[in-house]
Amino acid sequence: MDEQLLKAMGLWPLWVPKDQETEVVTLSEPAASHEPSIASVHVASPFGFTESTPDVETPAAKPVISASAKAGLAAALAAARGGSSSLRHAPEKPATHVALPEAQQPPVQAEAPAPVSLVTKPVTPANDNWDDLTREIHQCRACTLCDSRTQAVPGIGDVQAEWMFIGEAPGAEEDRLGEPFVGTAGKLLDNMLAAMQLKRGDNVYIGNVLKCRPPGNRDPQPAEVAACRHFLTRQIALVQPKILVALGRFAANTLLNTDSTLASLRGTVHHVEGIPLIVTYHPAYLLRNLPDKAKAWQDLCLAMKTLQQTKH
Ligand code: URA
Repeated sequence: MDEQLLKAMGLWPLWVPKDQETEVVTLSEPAASHEPSIASVHVASPFGFTESTPDVETPAAKPVISASAKAGLAAALAAARGGSSSLRHAPEKPATHVALPEAQQPPVQAEAPAPVSLVTKPVTPANDNWDDLTREIHQCRACTLCDSRTQAVPGIGDVQAEWMFIGEAPGAEEDRLGEPFVGTAGKLLDNMLAAMQLKRGDNVYIGNVLKCRPPGNRDPQPAEVAACRHFLTRQIALVQPKILVALGRFAANTLLNTDSTLASLRGTVHHVEGIPLIVTYHPAYLLRNLPDKAKAWQDLCLAMKTLQQTKH
């Protein structure tokens, strides 16, 4: 890939193209006390960071399990363990919505409706499965985002993945194509995955907290999250990943039921219903704040090390 293009995408020099020489990037910034310490990061092809996991000091286990997240997920996880899905990939989505130019879209109500009563039909967890879940997401009208979406964006990838990455909400490209992280931020996410020797769809499932695009990519509103979060809970229960990676503060706060800063959540192995959760920056943020890619790499190293530890 062209160096200029990589620079424009914010992938240079930390995520480097295949034909670049191996180099060592020394992190000059001292790790904060709550962050894993990495003396140096070896950058090698393809797109860097292919050396064995750097020496990350995993902080003392500080499990953070939110009670309310735990309750919903416990039921769904128990149910999913009882059931089975032969699907390796998420099923095809029915195309149920016609794209409207933004100008023709109906205005979004200032106040989203109360979540509980408007959530789509309650599902008996024991009967949950991908077909039902995907259909419900596409048919969901639990908040006003259904009025402005082109289509809902359920998630994509390997439904038996060890890795689950969770972002915020679909953007314009995702709304158009029906797949998470396909815009510019998605390209960076793909490069982050490649740096971990992972790739979309292969041992990786990618989803969002919200399944529908907030108009103009505004921040999700609490009522929208409340209406939508059960879908994510069910996706986690069905995939049963070995590790969760929250991309950005919004995903982290939703999963952990907190309103802490991203800085305070990084560098710690959290747990959601027994599944380790690592918090890192959202790729869209990294595109605007290139130096923080080094810190993101620390987080991804902590995630790789944490997953390794679960296997021993
Ligand atoms: N940002 C997100 O959080 N999710 C997407 O799917 C795309 C951009």
